[in-house]
Amino acid sequence: MRLLRSRFLQAVLILVLAFVILRFGIRPPAPWSVLTLYLAIIFMAVMVFVSSDRDSWRSFIGPIWTTLVRPERRPLRIALVIVIPLLVGYYAYTQAAAKPQAPPELRAVHPAPPASIQFRNKEFNISGAENPLRKDAAKFREHVSKGGEIYIRNCVYCHGDNLDGKGHFAPGFNPPPANFQDPGTIAMLQEAFLFWRIAKGGPGLPKESTPWNSVMPPWEDRLTEEQIWQVIMYLYDATGQQPRRWEASEHASH
Ligand code: HEC
Repeated sequence: MRLLRSRFLQAVLILVLAFVILRFGIRPPAPWSVLTLYLAIIFMAVMVFVSSDRDSWRSFIGPIWTTLVRPERRPLRIALVIVIPLLVGYYAYTQAAAKPQAPPELRAVHPAPPASIQFRNKEFNISGAENPLRKDAAKFREHVSKGGEIYIRNCVYCHGDNLDGKGHFAPGFNPPPANFQDPGTIAMLQEAFLFWRIAKGGPGLPKESTPWNSVMPPWEDRLTEEQIWQVIMYLYDATGQQPRRWEASEHASH
């Protein structure tokens, strides 16, 4: 108990206790930058505490002093001279050593679509398929405006008001929702490709697109075939993009 009255020991105990509480008592764990900041503040408070009066300061400095000068503390001195540089060296090593890196995510952003899919229990040919609603030019506006409604109801909170992939939920997702304004998305894809992606969503992506945690939902149970073609028409109309055409060879080979 007499030992506990030593200011030096009290200071060490407070710091160790503070470290243990901050490091293991907080869920989720605080980052090191926060931890070191708090510990620095606590350290300063402890220094104020131990130096508050002369006796206290002497009691604090005593053990340090005797360790540095007393002949009988020589073994401890030598041990410290060895251990402290070793600890510093170990710390420097852990900082400099190569850390394991997450493998880069190599994935096909626009994988080849399957030749055909099951849509509502019927075989649906993707390759070569055209948007049937475009045949009736008189109804073009009607389809686009219906597609707009479908978009607002179902897609806007991810793909955004401006179809730029900046919906309210977008910041939470990786990969982020597709930006349809970007020439790298719908402008380089056939409408049938979009049909497949909208019908089957992230879960419908093939292996070469993994690791892939796409949150793009499959819409096949919520939207009808016609509604999917309508929302596709809206995507192109609202962004001013043109769908890619099937090339003759792609057509013929299936
Ligand atoms: C929960 C968020 C979310 C909703 C809701 C959502 N999407 Fe997506 N969508 C994504 C994400 C994330 C991606 C990118 C990853 C991928 O391609 O699967 C994506 C990709 C796409 C793509 C592929 C674009 C490309 O370049 O390959 C299309 C097309 C698409 N979405 C259309 C739609 C349509 C139409 C709707 C509404 C019926 C919709 N999305 C609703 C998250 C969403």
